[in-house]
Amino acid sequence: MASTFNVAMIGGGFMGKAHALAYAAMPMFFWPAPAIPRRKILVDVGPEAAAEAAARYGFEESSTDWRSVVARPDIDIVDICTPNDSHAPIAIAALEAGKHVISEKPLARTGDEALTMLEAARRAGTTTMVAFNYRRTPAVALARKYIEDGRIGRILNFRGTYLQDWSADPSSPRSWRFQKDIAGSGTVGDIGTHVIDFARYLVGEIASVNAMVHNYISRRPIQQGGLDKLGTAARSDAPLGDIDVDDEMITLLRFENGAVGSIEATRNAFGRSNYLTFEIHGEGGSIAFDYERMGELKVMFADDPPDSKGFRTVHTGPAHPYGAGLWPIPALGTGYGETKIIECFDFLSAIVAGTQPSPSFEDGYRISRIADAILASGKTGAWTDVGR
Ligand SMILES: NC(=O)c1ccc[n+]([C@@H]2O[C@H](COP(=O)([O-])OP(=O)(O)OC[C@H]3O[C@@H](n4cnc5c(N)ncnc54)[C@H](O)[C@@H]3O)[C@@H](O)[C@H]2O)c1
Repeated sequence: MASTFNVAMIGGGFMGKAHALAYAAMPMFFWPAPAIPRRKILVDVGPEAAAEAAARYGFEESSTDWRSVVARPDIDIVDICTPNDSHAPIAIAALEAGKHVISEKPLARTGDEALTMLEAARRAGTTTMVAFNYRRTPAVALARKYIEDGRIGRILNFRGTYLQDWSADPSSPRSWRFQKDIAGSGTVGDIGTHVIDFARYLVGEIASVNAMVHNYISRRPIQQGGLDKLGTAARSDAPLGDIDVDDEMITLLRFENGAVGSIEATRNAFGRSNYLTFEIHGEGGSIAFDYERMGELKVMFADDPPDSKGFRTVHTGPAHPYGAGLWPIPALGTGYGETKIIECFDFLSAIVAGTQPSPSFEDGYRISRIADAILASGKTGAWTDVGR
């Protein structure tokens, strides 16, 4: 019989919902489950908000005090779904109490802050994970499998984008995502890091970057109410507040293995809702992915017969990574929820095996260092080494 792990979730907003869904649904998809997650307690800032989120997401208890909750002996897993400024203090306290920890991305506001979390993780020796869940899209995992199997040969070029438009309207609210002291950075940390995760997962370590980092919208109406509604119009009489983070980033990449690449990320791209893409060219073929069509992977192999050269579309299904646990035929459709369910499966599997899943806090730290290098290069305009 699988063990049961008690989960304390800190933060019951957008990600709280996604992670709660995963805890409830994971054993329905992956059976026998590596372990059964029990939604024990949810923490949020006010008693009413915490109690309401706990009831909605199926947690047995609620609290407003994460410090006492992460120290509770009956808690096995601490799940951090709060804005970026609280990831480090919560994770370090939880690790010092000997808990397994999953933190939402970016791991921290800066590389230095992420390092404090990594050091705490090394001291604790428990299992850690950072929730870059997009790589758990079956089509992305299939791209990695093709690359590992040598199907497109040595990789020459990676081209990644993450374009969104939820904040393209200057009247959308100045939530925590636009405040450097809470978020750390803007587009770079919020969405650029997802593409950095793709680049490292699919191609390899990034050695240096050369970036342009820009902010177009310098003032926004101050958000009314606690939750970030991701672009829902602000009250018209709300006062304006200054924006001190980037909203646009373009960077060139040099990988340690000799490949080159680029990443573009913006939250100003009207018409692009969640345009998270990559295209990878190798000596033996190419692979292309677009999250807005997340059940599909476009592939082209250089040794295809001349009369059938060109991209073909693979619809992910049971034959592909994680497929046996998902739906019985290809193209039934997978969504954001499934990426979190798979993430939960991999996290609990690693806890049971006593291993570190990828992306672990080590990966989260490396990604934060790369984000730092992009921000630094954006200021100087110079090629900037990421460093170790
Ligand atoms: N992996 C992804 O695809 C993805 C998507 C969105 C957000 N995120 C990340 O998830 C994290 C949370 O983002 P979100 O969109 O869920 O934000 P959100 O604003 O929707 O929710 C955050 C919740 O945390 C609560 N909170 C804040 N400080 C707290 C504290 N000290 N103690 C307890 N609760 C506290 C807030 O009241 C709110 O309910 C961020 O780090 C963000 O970057 C990841």
